[in-house]
Amino acid sequence: MSTTLRINGTPHEVDLPDDVPLLWVLRDEIGLTGTKFGCGVAACGACTVHIDGEAVRSCQVALFDVWGDVTTIEGVGAPDTMAAVQKAWVANQVAQCGYCQSGQIMQAASLLAENPSPSDAEIDEAMQGNLCRCGTYPRIRAAIHDAASMMKEA
Ligand code: FES
Ligand code: FES
Repeated sequence: MSTTLRINGTPHEVDLPDDVPLLWVLRDEIGLTGTKFGCGVAACGACTVHIDGEAVRSCQVALFDVWGDVTTIEGVGAPDTMAAVQKAWVANQVAQCGYCQSGQIMQAASLLAENPSPSDAEIDEAMQGNLCRCGTYPRIRAAIHDAASMMKEA
């Protein structure tokens, strides 16, 4: 069935079965490959995107269940127009292999939208479902604190 998704502010008409996961739509149909496939069972967070600002695992949201506007890592900022959270990621050299990092940034962005000054414990709780095989957790935490400071100064 044909349906229209609004992704990063642009409408996309999609003609796929209703039960196709949003992750497949984003990567294979629209070509937004910044969102990564990790586990496919909501256990790693690599596929995290926003729907109406809420961080969701796109491997677990079927096309017919998409209830609002979708934002992917490509919609957060570009290299010359980075969001605070992306600038903080660069400043703290968070990424190692990088595979998990778009999901980490999307989760962090939704945390900061809800809580502009998260504590270490609040960061750990919000980020616990986003796994990083490279073990960048201390840098992620530092980058979230930096992003929170940047957003307050803006
Ligand atoms: S690929 Fe969706 S949570 Fe791992
Ligand atoms: S940076 Fe390699 S998995 Fe997280």
